[in-house]
Amino acid sequence: MEDPETDFLCGLLELQYGLPVQDSLKRCAQHVPWARGWPEDIKSFWNAEAFMWGHKIDTRIRKIIEDELQFLAGGTNLDIGCGAYSYIPSVGLDVSEKMLEFNERLTQRVVGNLEGFLPFADECFDSVTAILVLNYVWDYGKLFLEVRRVLRPKGIFMIVLYRGKINEWQRRQQVHDFSGKKWSLLLKEAEFTVKRYTKEGLMFLRGEKGIN
Ligand SMILES: C[S@@+](CC[C@H](N)C(=O)[O-])C[C@H]1O[C@@H](n2cnc3c(N)ncnc32)[C@H](O)[C@@H]1O
Repeated sequence: MEDPETDFLCGLLELQYGLPVQDSLKRCAQHVPWARGWPEDIKSFWNAEAFMWGHKIDTRIRKIIEDELQFLAGGTNLDIGCGAYSYIPSVGLDVSEKMLEFNERLTQRVVGNLEGFLPFADECFDSVTAILVLNYVWDYGKLFLEVRRVLRPKGIFMIVLYRGKINEWQRRQQVHDFSGKKWSLLLKEAEFTVKRYTKEGLMFLRGEKGIN
């Protein structure tokens, strides 16, 4: 083995082209600190995805989301599960340090897990965005409570989910595929006032925190 990291990255490319390299790649991952446990370990899985993230989401989709989120751009935004791309300047939190590294719109990078507590003080953000991420989070109930806690009164929680078929590789990580109606209900139960709409295969949920 020459350089395990280079071998691993080349193997990821081969996998993209459908070559049957998964078993050898798995062995190779054991020698790369940020990929150990790939693809089962979620941190390693998303670290590996980070290298090609720029090509994985259509620029048209990016533009629609970006336009919809502009109304939040003047405030302090926390982007949870920000990946390698944030749509407005944000404090970014993600389980993958590689995703954070490649994200150029972040004012602060925080490695963290959305299944736990958010490492921020109460009421310190004007808005929180969760873009193409909630379908990967088991304990969304706890996360909603945490989002409420870090949002200022009347703060906005903006969720975006893709309604089309996501690629098979990423679908392996998905833990829920709820309808828009169900997500609205869950947000209402977490005491957000909810407005839901769709645009070009994307579902937007805008939750507002009350003043209590
Ligand atoms: C499909 S990507 C979306 C990234 C970005 N929001 C975008 O629109 O391009 C999902 C992101 O959620 C992150 N993620 C998944 N599960 C997570 C968890 N439990 N805690 C923190 N981040 C997580 C992944 O690392 C990945 O960056």
